Amino acid sequence: MAKIWNVAVIGCGIGRLHILEGYSRHQDKFRVLALCDLDPARLAAVGDEFAIPRRTAAFEEVLRMDDVEIVDICTPPSLHVPQALAALAAGKQVVCEKPLAGSLADVDRLIAAEQGAKTRIMPVFQYRYGNGLQKAKHIIERGVAGKPYLATVETAWNRGAKYYAVPWRGRWETELGGVLLTHAIHSHDIMTYLMGPIASVFARTATRINPIEVEDCAVASLAMASGALVSLAATLGSQTEISRLRFCFEHVTFESSLAPYSPGDDPWQIVPASPEAEQRIADALRDWRFVPSRFEGLMARYHAALEAGSEFPVTLADARRSLELVTALFYSAETEAAVALPLGAAHPRYRSWRPQASLRGGAGVS
Ligand SMILES: NC(=O)c1ccc[n+]([C@@H]2O[C@H](COP(=O)([O-])OP(=O)(O)OC[C@H]3O[C@@H](n4cnc5c(N)ncnc54)[C@H](O)[C@@H]3O)[C@@H](O)[C@H]2O)c1
Repeated sequence: MAKIWNVAVIGCGIGRLHILEGYSRHQDKFRVLALCDLDPARLAAVGDEFAIPRRTAAFEEVLRMDDVEIVDICTPPSLHVPQALAALAAGKQVVCEKPLAGSLADVDRLIAAEQGAKTRIMPVFQYRYGNGLQKAKHIIERGVAGKPYLATVETAWNRGAKYYAVPWRGRWETELGGVLLTHAIHSHDIMTYLMGPIASVFARTATRINPIEVEDCAVASLAMASGALVSLAATLGSQTEISRLRFCFEHVTFESSLAPYSPGDDPWQIVPASPEAEQRIADALRDWRFVPSRFEGLMARYHAALEAGSEFPVTLADARRSLELVTALFYSAETEAAVALPLGAAHPRYRSWRPQASLRGGAGVS
C-alpha cells in the first residue's frame, strides 16, 4: 500500500482549496496534520472544517514538527522564497503557491538550494489538471498534432474593490505584479506546457480598472522557438469571466472550455484536420484514463512522483519558465521593445522585474 504523507498547510486562503480539492480527496495518500496562519479566526474555521489536529500561528513551530513531511506554502507572494528555503533546510518536502518567487535570481536560488537538499520543491500550477487539457497534452506528446501554427490565450476575469481590500494585493512590494503575474500566469503556463519554449515577446500593460499600483490589463504578441505565433490578452475588467485557450496545429485544433477557473476540464474541442488525423487521435486516446480537475489531479500525480522519486508534475524549471515570461513581458512593456528569451543573470531585470517607473512612484491608474 502507498505511503500516507503528512502535510502542514501554511496560509488558509487558497490553502483551504489545497485541502478541499486536493488532500481531502486523497486521504489514502495524504494526511493534513498541521495548519498555520497568523489569522486566528481563519485558522480555527479551516482547522475545524477539516478536523486538522494541530494549529499554530508560528511557521517555525511547523518546521520543528518531526512528523510533518510536506510543507505546503500558501502565504502571500513575498514570503514564498524565505519560507521555501527554511522548509528545505528543515528537511521538508515543499509545495509552493504561485508566484514561486519575486525574481529570476530568487528562482535560481531555490534551484541551487534544491540541488543541495535531500528534499524537493513542487511549484503549484493546478490549472494544468483537467481531462480536456490532458488529452490535448497527450496527443501533442504522441507526435499526432504536428507542427504548431498559432495559439490565442484569453484570461478575462473580474476583480474589484473587495478583492483589493486585502492589504498585500495591488502593490508591487507585496503582490509583485498584477494580472500577468497573479491571474493569467495559469493560462500562460498552460500555453507553454502545450506549445513549448518562447523565443521573443512584445507586451503592453495598463492599469485601468482598479486604483492599484500593478497592471490589470495586458496584451502580448509572442514568437515561439518552434516558429509558431501566440497572442495573449488578460484583463480583470470582464463582466463575463472566461479563460479561453485555442491551439492550431497542423493536424488538429484544440479549444478549451470557457470555465474561468478550470479551463483544463472537458469539454475541449479536439478538431482533426483529416480522417487520418482523426484515426491517429482515436488511437492515441484508446486507453485514456480520466484526469481529474485542478488540485485533485495535481496531488494524485504529486503523490505518485514522491513515491517513485520521479520528476514532479510541476518542476522548478516550469516555475522559472513562467517567471521568465513575466520578466520579459514587464520589460517589454517598460521599454516598448521586443524581448528575446531566454533571460539569464546578465538581464537588467534578473534581480527584479519591477518596472523602474514604479520605484519612482510613477506607475498607477492610466
Ligand atoms: N493557484 C491558485 O489558483 C491561486 C489562487 C489564489 C491565490 N493563489 C496564490 O496563493 C498565495 C496566497 O493567496 P491567497 O489568495 O490565499 O491570500 P490570502 O491573503 O487570502 O491568504 C493568505 C493567508 O496567509 C496568512 N499568512 C500571512 N503571513 C503568514 C505567515 N507568516 N505565516 C502563516 N500564515 C501567514 C494570512 O493570514 C492569510 O490568511 C498567493 O501567492 C496567491 O498568488 C493561488
